[in-house]
Amino acid sequence: MGLKEVFSDYTVSIHYDRRLYKQDITGSIAHARMLCRQGIISESDAETIIAGLTDIENEIGRGKFEWKPELEDIHMNIERRLFELIGEPALRLHTARSRNDQIALDVRMYAKESITSILSALFDLRWNLVALADRYPDSPMPGYTHVQRAQPVLLAHHILAYYEMFSRDSERFEQAFDRTDVMPLGSGALAGLPYPIDRQFVADELGFSRVSANSMDAVSDRDFLLDFLSASSICAMHLSRMAEELVLWSSDEFGFVRMPDRYTTGSSIMPQKRNPDFAEIARGKTGRVYGCLIGLLTVLKGLPLTYNRDMQEDKEGFFDTSDTILTTLQIFADLVSGIEINANRMRQAAGDSYVLATDIADYLVARGAPFREAYRIVSRLSEYALEKGAGFGELSLEEYKSHSDLFGPDVYDITVESSIAARDVHGGTAYIRVLNAITAARTELEEQHGQ
Ligand code: ARG
Repeated sequence: MGLKEVFSDYTVSIHYDRRLYKQDITGSIAHARMLCRQGIISESDAETIIAGLTDIENEIGRGKFEWKPELEDIHMNIERRLFELIGEPALRLHTARSRNDQIALDVRMYAKESITSILSALFDLRWNLVALADRYPDSPMPGYTHVQRAQPVLLAHHILAYYEMFSRDSERFEQAFDRTDVMPLGSGALAGLPYPIDRQFVADELGFSRVSANSMDAVSDRDFLLDFLSASSICAMHLSRMAEELVLWSSDEFGFVRMPDRYTTGSSIMPQKRNPDFAEIARGKTGRVYGCLIGLLTVLKGLPLTYNRDMQEDKEGFFDTSDTILTTLQIFADLVSGIEINANRMRQAAGDSYVLATDIADYLVARGAPFREAYRIVSRLSEYALEKGAGFGELSLEEYKSHSDLFGPDVYDITVESSIAARDVHGGTAYIRVLNAITAARTELEEQHGQ
């Protein structure tokens, strides 16, 4: 390839913006209809244009369209083909329009569709998380802080924590949708247009809830993509935390879950291995999603108003993020529904350790000890038990009493179950609270499903 070709390729975007062909054509059809209604082009021209655009959409759909890099982008490729097909009327389509408002329109339309698919995948994931929690409503496990066993919780409570995260992600995508749902066509290159256009008609045709208020902002603004990319980044972070737990939990060390076979692979040399590749790759993909957000923030940060060609760099990161998030959500929704839980092993891990230490301190508080003092006593008691190699349940009453005379025989009533049952506050892990949370989540999902 000669230098000249290298340089001309530099500005070409058709290899990625061809993805926008449906939006570009649908937008052009609405524009042509509006031009005709307003008497800006004739009815017969409008009909010819619309028929030609429909043919082009079919050509592209059937893989019969010849993409021409020398025409640079999706708009020029379609417009030139329209001219080949219908001749002179094609030259009237771009009346009262600029590629600057056209591309803003196409990307907004694509983003709205993409968010709709993501919301539906998020819904499935949330649904399946609640179903999983519902399958294990009273299974205890150790809850962790610092990856150290901390206090017993119900597995369902842990799972519902993810439900909350993904519900907030849904809200963020809905907000991103709302900001995207603004119709920019009619802004022209930057200043508006000297034609009697009807912007509301175009918005209605294309299903936008409102039209943009300022033509200069409309061709400069890519905030809606930043909203999308930041919602995606936060969602990717949640997916990655979940992936990390699945990787840990499926290890021999934890042995809490077994991933569905379709989401693990063997090692080429170690026959016993079941590597959690899907979870690892999901965790790894977080990097590229964050990268796309930072990339676009950086592209935009120094741009004077209005349109600058730098903005063409908004698309690849956006498409990549949209694909990555949608696929990862779909995989996780399926993975969650196929996961095997080793409830016994979790129960054992909750009972084996010193996770009841806080409850023993609370026991002393109930008998009048100040909490800090109780904490100190139990901390010594744990050291003592640890040194002896005994669990709390294996210490004699004398041993308890030698640490504090507030201890009585009912200290043996402190169990994993009593610890969980005691957390009977709104948002706590007590069985009844978790059951209510499952019901609340179900109701919320059913309401959203009906919408
Ligand atoms: N390919 C361009 C983009 O993605 C389309 C708009 C081009 N506008 C222009 N004035 N060159 O942003």
